[in-house]
Amino acid sequence: MQELQASTAPAGQGPAALPEAASLEAAGYVALPAPAARARFDAAGTALAGPAWESFAASWAALEPDRFMADGGRYRLRRHAAFRLAPGTAPQRLPHRPHYQTTEHNPLNGGIERWFAPVTPEAEASPALAALLEGARAVFDALRPGTDWLVEMHQFRIQARTGEAGKPTPEGMHRDGVDFVMVTLVGRHNVAGGVTGIRIDGQPGEQSFTLEQPLDSVLLDDHRVWHGVTPIAPLDPDQPGYRDVLVLTFSVRLPPSPGAAGRHTGPE
Ligand SMILES: [Fe+2]
Repeated sequence: MQELQASTAPAGQGPAALPEAASLEAAGYVALPAPAARARFDAAGTALAGPAWESFAASWAALEPDRFMADGGRYRLRRHAAFRLAPGTAPQRLPHRPHYQTTEHNPLNGGIERWFAPVTPEAEASPALAALLEGARAVFDALRPGTDWLVEMHQFRIQARTGEAGKPTPEGMHRDGVDFVMVTLVGRHNVAGGVTGIRIDGQPGEQSFTLEQPLDSVLLDDHRVWHGVTPIAPLDPDQPGYRDVLVLTFSVRLPPSPGAAGRHTGPE
């Protein structure tokens, strides 16, 4: 099992001026171990550390059961929210809506509108969330300048219990059906497994790594990368175990208007 290693590429010019964006464009994904995520997303050290982070992470203790598990599993808890990130404006929470994936993208649980418990106002207002939303936006904007983004926020807790495998991705290797994804580990407690595998551009073989430390993150181009996570089990079967993750998916809500500064010039 590999720990998360930083993947970097030389900074490019123009839209890929951020090294993280250049890596994402070159490789289809970029790994940001916790120190790199903190440095990039929270230079002041006030949002992704200390009380702000602790209280955001604590909100994972108040997730609600996912009632749409076609495998009958009761090991997944979650909350969901949608935001609009329009150019030059702060994230705007959208009215609560269902989460929808096609059966092509999610053969197990797709094809229906799934309503999940909403993200709480306290979690929505967290400086940690603001830092992560803005940090991810900066990277994705470097590749799609001027985009009006639809962001879906998913808080997941997968429980590891004796006798029932906790499956972070019960649908197996998949794409989310969006444009870009950031996955950030919030915490692991008494958990074995949970290895992330990714397959890029349909090439054979997988790369694998484990999000081990809080804030270990990976950013994916969802058009190029299939991803999945192995089941988890409790290290100590007599104690509860869980893996907490934040997933932010970015979809192009509106492409840049013609003539807007910083039109998309990246690859299609
Ligand atoms: Fe996914």
